[in-house]
Amino acid sequence: MLEMRNVSYSYTGKGKAKVSVLENRTMKFEKGSIYALFGPSGSGKTTCLMLLGGLEIPNQGKILLDGQDISEIGYQKLRQKYVSYIFQDYMLFPYMTALENVLVSAQISLKKQDKNMVKQKATELLYSLGLVEAEVNRKVTELSGGQQQRVAIARALVTEADYILADEPTGNLDRENTVSIMELMGQIAHERNKALVIVTHSEYVRNECDHVYYIDKDMDKEGGYESCKTNIN
Ligand SMILES: Nc1ncnc2c1ncn2[C@@H]1O[C@H](COP(=O)(O)OP(=O)(O)OP(=O)(O)O)[C@@H](O)[C@H]1O
Ligand SMILES: [Mg+2]
Repeated sequence: MLEMRNVSYSYTGKGKAKVSVLENRTMKFEKGSIYALFGPSGSGKTTCLMLLGGLEIPNQGKILLDGQDISEIGYQKLRQKYVSYIFQDYMLFPYMTALENVLVSAQISLKKQDKNMVKQKATELLYSLGLVEAEVNRKVTELSGGQQQRVAIARALVTEADYILADEPTGNLDRENTVSIMELMGQIAHERNKALVIVTHSEYVRNECDHVYYIDKDMDKEGGYESCKTNIN
């Protein structure tokens, strides 16, 4: 389980005034479920993901992975083994193809035989996300925004990480592609027993998730948590 326990976080603004983003936040993410972080722009959703992925450090409180503070596990090890991240602005390597982008972190330190296996897995994943062969082997700068987003999703899904943090993964996709990506996300969480944490503004995506955390203070319901009843079997 990945857990944010009593976390407070603030940014120091340009005028040195502190901008408080999170106050005493507690959230739990268990494998086998999809969670939505839902709230308006500027409410702190990306900040939550950065804290959970060890890319920012809380001012107060702890981030725990199976009960161990992630600062003790080590941020590098955390990102290599346990947590993968889909960035809001993709963060792809522009001079690489779609396939090379997916493989870039997954193949590090693998033997040749395993490298071929990962390559096949990455290619299949890109196809299942709707890219065709020519697009898989095209530089990502020559793909549309929505296609680039799917490459970023594939890159996070190809690793063995159990916790996938996704910042608006369907933000640039039309309804049809959003539906198919959420289906795939569902399979990954429920059949491969991973935890998916999805930041979203979309009511549709929120309703496809098993649980919802509200990140806007004004929308707090019982500590900002609500189970999505439509999705409980
Ligand atoms: N590096 C930074 N320095 C100072 N303030 C920041 C920084 N990053 C974010 N903030 C502020 O923290 C608050 C939360 O930002 P965050 O990016 O987490 O929001 P968000 O919910 O992801 O918004 P969006 O839906 O627009 O992506 C905002 O008020 C933002 O201006
Ligand atoms: Mg954001």
